[in-house]
Amino acid sequence: MGNQVDYFVIKAKENGVNVIGLTRGKDTRFHHSEKLDKGEVMIAQFTEHTSAVKIRGKAEIITPFGTVETDE
Ligand code: TRP
Repeated sequence: MGNQVDYFVIKAKENGVNVIGLTRGKDTRFHHSEKLDKGEVMIAQFTEHTSAVKIRGKAEIITPFGTVETDE
């Protein structure tokens, strides 16, 4: 962790896309939820607090491993 490779980009393709941060550690729970509207972009990274991200809604997710899109 700690360099540019940690970053990922979420591009909302509809209103009300949810970006949910899941906690790092022995219990996995939601700790942060961000709502994006169509065309909005969020740039985030994995941190001490966030080990996984769940995305709900139509969005494009650009990562160092490639680009994925959620299905409808
Ligand atoms: N305060 C959170 C953290 O440092 C913010 C955060 C980082 C976040 N990456 C995220 C929130 C991904 C949602 C999704 O862990």
